[in-house]
Amino acid sequence: MADRYCVFGNPIGHSKSPAIHTRFAQLTGEDIVYEARLAPLDGFAAAVRDFIAEGGRGANVTVPFKEEAFRLCDRLTPRAQLAGAVNTLSFDDKGVLGDNTDGAGLVRDLLDNLQAALTDRRILLLGAGGAARGALGPLLAEQPAQIVIANRTAAKAEALAGHFASLGAVGACGYAALAGRGFDVVINATSASLGGDVPPLPPGVFASGALAYDMMYGKGDTPFLALARAQGVARLSDGLGMLVGQAAEAFFVWRGLRPPTQTVLAALRIS
Ligand code: ATR
Repeated sequence: MADRYCVFGNPIGHSKSPAIHTRFAQLTGEDIVYEARLAPLDGFAAAVRDFIAEGGRGANVTVPFKEEAFRLCDRLTPRAQLAGAVNTLSFDDKGVLGDNTDGAGLVRDLLDNLQAALTDRRILLLGAGGAARGALGPLLAEQPAQIVIANRTAAKAEALAGHFASLGAVGACGYAALAGRGFDVVINATSASLGGDVPPLPPGVFASGALAYDMMYGKGDTPFLALARAQGVARLSDGLGMLVGQAAEAFFVWRGLRPPTQTVLAALRIS
């Protein structure tokens, strides 16, 4: 019988994860089935228990349950501990192991798909919520010259920078303080796009040749990518490659195999 996996979220109807993992399974010859499961907002833990009782081997976790998933795990990987959130669960006789593959997925997309250099580069991370926190450990592991976290609420950026200070050069500020400071890679980890909004970036944030990266994705430019384009940025990417990258890393956690990602990403782009 095929091993069973799923993704929990609320809402979950538009999740691309079942299609991605089903394709990974075909490409690697692994015998798995992967479905999307809507968990009630007040019933995430029960939904996980039910899936385990049905024989589930692992699960992905998406909005809004990543912090709750972090709390319910029996064990955590170091990167999940650092991220303070869990997007990948593995079930075995020792209980629930929580991992976080989001940051690794981002870094793989930046390095492998976009050929962006990170080492010795100046990185600007917009936002100081869960998405930013998940990205910081894997980004710092690439040894950039510095990472500046900018946030509407500057105190949250400062707290996050303090949390990661032992891992590399991390600074923090509000948006206005960014004026005239050029960055090579600018990553939008805010949820501003959800409301059709953009972080209030002052001019001069994108250095010559900079890459603008939005963790969000959708048809056409996201509001952040449209702003970057209007400021003359030519290298632009949405977060679809990060989605595929985090899925590939979760697949590796579960199955010990790295599926090819580029064909899967290309197919998603035209679907
Ligand atoms: P996530 O898990 O997606 O990171 P979150 O933890 O709620 O979600 O964090 C949302 C982030 O987007 C925060 O950094 C938030 O800024 P504040 O901390 O100042 O609230 C940022 N954000 C949300 N809407 C924004 C907007 N319209 N402009 C700028 N930043 C915004």
